[in-house]
Amino acid sequence: MSQASAGGVPSLEVREAILGRRSIRRFLDRPLREEDTLALLEAGRWAPSGLNNQPWRVILVEDRSKAAEIAECTRYSSIVEKAPLLIAVFLDHSSSYDRDKDVMSVGAFIQNILLAAHDRGLGAVWLGEILREKDRVRELLEAPPEFELMAVVAVGHPAEEPARRERKALDDLIYRRY
Ligand SMILES: Cc1cc2nc3c(=O)[nH]c(=O)nc-3n(C[C@H](O)[C@H](O)[C@H](O)COP(=O)(O)O)c2cc1C
Repeated sequence: MSQASAGGVPSLEVREAILGRRSIRRFLDRPLREEDTLALLEAGRWAPSGLNNQPWRVILVEDRSKAAEIAECTRYSSIVEKAPLLIAVFLDHSSSYDRDKDVMSVGAFIQNILLAAHDRGLGAVWLGEILREKDRVRELLEAPPEFELMAVVAVGHPAEEPARRERKALDDLIYRRY
């Protein structure tokens, strides 16, 4: 059964959200509503972080010509060009205290965004390959030098229903038990 979220909008159960989320790489040509964009960031905002330092910062890209510039930095250019919203996620080194922990915190932030997108019937994909050009992306987005790009999340209304990708079996995951 669905739970009601704070805004009264029916929300997916956590289990369904986790199991049903897929990476979406094709989007309808339809802009995101501002309330959806803010809801994704709100979900990210509540991610855990070491010492609660919240080391994440984002730059949002909806402008098509800016998206086309970013697209030149990755071999996943068709996704970047066509996504109605790009969320460039940065680690802000001015809020950082331990690189490993901060990078993990940013990962939790991104996962919350992916789950919130799925919950709202949107699609999203976490793009990491673009990090090969992370300095170029930072410059294109006019981010300060203390911002290190961690990922670009492409978001939109899904234009595909991809099959579930396989996962390793639990037996392969548990190395040892005491
Ligand atoms: C750190 C990270 C980097 C990723 N980079 C890319 C990427 O550059 N391009 C892409 O199409 N998908 C990328 N993905 C998405 C994965 O391919 C996807 O999560 C995985 O194949 C499992 O599929 P699912 O998300 O549909 O379950 C990335 C995911 C993660 C967590």
